[in-house]
Amino acid sequence: MKLLIMGRPGAGKGTQAVNIREYYNIPHISTGDIFRANLKGQTKLGLLAKTYMDKGLLVPDSVTIDLVKDRLSQPDCKEGFLLDGFPRNLEQAKALDEFLKSRNESLDAVLDIDVKPEVLIDRIVGRRVCPTCGATFHIKNNPPKVEGVCDKCGGKLIQRNDDTYETAENRLKVYDNQTAPLLDYYKNQHLLKTVNGDQDFAKVFEDIKKVLTK
Ligand code: AP5
Ligand code: MG
Ligand code: ZN
Repeated sequence: MKLLIMGRPGAGKGTQAVNIREYYNIPHISTGDIFRANLKGQTKLGLLAKTYMDKGLLVPDSVTIDLVKDRLSQPDCKEGFLLDGFPRNLEQAKALDEFLKSRNESLDAVLDIDVKPEVLIDRIVGRRVCPTCGATFHIKNNPPKVEGVCDKCGGKLIQRNDDTYETAENRLKVYDNQTAPLLDYYKNQHLLKTVNGDQDFAKVFEDIKKVLTK
């Protein structure tokens, strides 16, 4: 399975990616997670990415595209992968197509987790993440058993730097302007599978499995 998962910021890409990764046994590659891991390690890439992420802007294609090509060239991606948060504009989508074509590979499906923008600011601002194991929670929708503590590993939960009200609004605008046009791009390739993301967590995953087995 070679998959993309798309959707507005906060739509539930990362949350559902964990389910998909386990169900299909494929690596989950999130460009946002890669940038955040680099920032944690204080690498040059991480520090560069931070200047864009903190404003809700896209990290330049010149670094992002090569990063993804490198990751997809690793042996664990041979049988399949789930890309989350990439591509985010037409240039990235074309670069991915060319890269896959050069390797005689192609995408099996593009999942779009559809959630109305009104719901999303609340989801983003209420999100808490575990920097140790990557688990995601929400103070209302999916609270940890003990406030501020990760259920899975006991780590201390934090709020992402870009999960402020202002940055979230900007991320939604960037999505509309730069990423939303990709939905037509993949629809024209007959790859787009849309799932209603404004439902219970488990129901969203049920629907994902349904559209992927069709
Ligand atoms: P990235 O990390 O990709 O962030 P994003 O696209 O803004 O998406 P999020 O991670 O915020 O949301 P999600 O859909 O994963 O939602 P989640 O499952 O966590 O990118 C961050 C930044 O990195 C970008 O702004 C950019 O600067 C840079 N970047 C990344 N990729 C790039 C690229 N290709 N090119 C250039 N720059 C790039 O869920 C959100 C919350 O909702 C959680 O609290 C969760 O518990 C809750 N929730 C989930 N599902 C449900 C549900 N069904 N019901 C109720 N609550 C739910
Ligand atoms: Mg995410
Ligand atoms: Zn954890």
